[in-house]
Amino acid sequence: MTVFSIDGPFGGTITLLQEDCLAGLRRLAAGSVDVVVTSPPYNLGVRYATYVDDRPREEYLGWLEEVGREIRRVLAEEGSFFLNAGGKPTDPWVPFDILARLRPHFRLQNVIHWIKAISLSRGHGLEEFSLGHYKPIGGQRFLHDCHEYVFHLTKTGRVKLDRLAVGVPYQDKSNLGRWKQATRDKRCRGNTWFIPYDTIQSREKERPHPATFPVRLPEMCLRLHGLERVRLVLDPFMGIGTTALACLRLGVSCLGFEIDPHYFEMAADRIRRAAAHHPPVQEAIWTCMKPS
Ligand SMILES: C[S@@+](CC[C@H](N)C(=O)[O-])C[C@H]1O[C@@H](n2cnc3c(N)ncnc32)[C@H](O)[C@@H]1O
Repeated sequence: MTVFSIDGPFGGTITLLQEDCLAGLRRLAAGSVDVVVTSPPYNLGVRYATYVDDRPREEYLGWLEEVGREIRRVLAEEGSFFLNAGGKPTDPWVPFDILARLRPHFRLQNVIHWIKAISLSRGHGLEEFSLGHYKPIGGQRFLHDCHEYVFHLTKTGRVKLDRLAVGVPYQDKSNLGRWKQATRDKRCRGNTWFIPYDTIQSREKERPHPATFPVRLPEMCLRLHGLERVRLVLDPFMGIGTTALACLRLGVSCLGFEIDPHYFEMAADRIRRAAAHHPPVQEAIWTCMKPS
């Protein structure tokens, strides 16, 4: 097992372990993790460096249920488990099949829709405009797939959240006087989160992993849970370390497992470089939110 560990410039420690997450999870003490943010392989035939993403469905779901059982054990009573999952047009059931397996172990407290691309207009008949990136799908059967899920799972279904930490300003400022709860110009964002990928020129150099999420995704999950209640964050499927990067920027401790030595090295390198050159978190968020 290879270990990488570094103190973050804003506090917290980032520790990455190159090992199978089930083995790693089994070594953790019960109730020792406050927030899990992760995206497991979806079993859709993605070409990872070593992991084979094409197992018989039952075997795959049984394995993820076992991981889920361990996550429940290590999660604190008031903890949050944010599980990012998606399907593909020819296999759209994956996120729901995973959820069905986790149902005996968790309450589904929130369903968040991670919107990667969207087309909007400011009113009927007004010009439409589009934001974000998507992978075009040809043919006549399917729509372009522009979103994934983030299932917010908890032990009790009653975990208090810091909704305004990811809140948005009121569009109509007259709400400020009208609603008793509206004491400042911020309201709950709701469960549709528009988080586009950055525009990139070279996939190999800038996104050298086939299935990452943008850093703003774990960042928003952590803020929503409430940063002051986070002692330790876990990502059992770390990839190239996006959750760890969010933790570094927010100054919270993080533990990550990644089975692939190549991705593990990339994650360590990404964290090392971010620790040496650390933009303030507001700037980091803005970089992720630049429209294409
Ligand atoms: C969907 S990717 C996660 C990407 C990550 N969210 C990011 O932004 O970089 C899933 C990762 O899980 C890793 N993986 C697969 N099986 C694993 C296991 N048993 N233990 C730890 N990691 C595993 C794969 O190598 C892959 O990098």
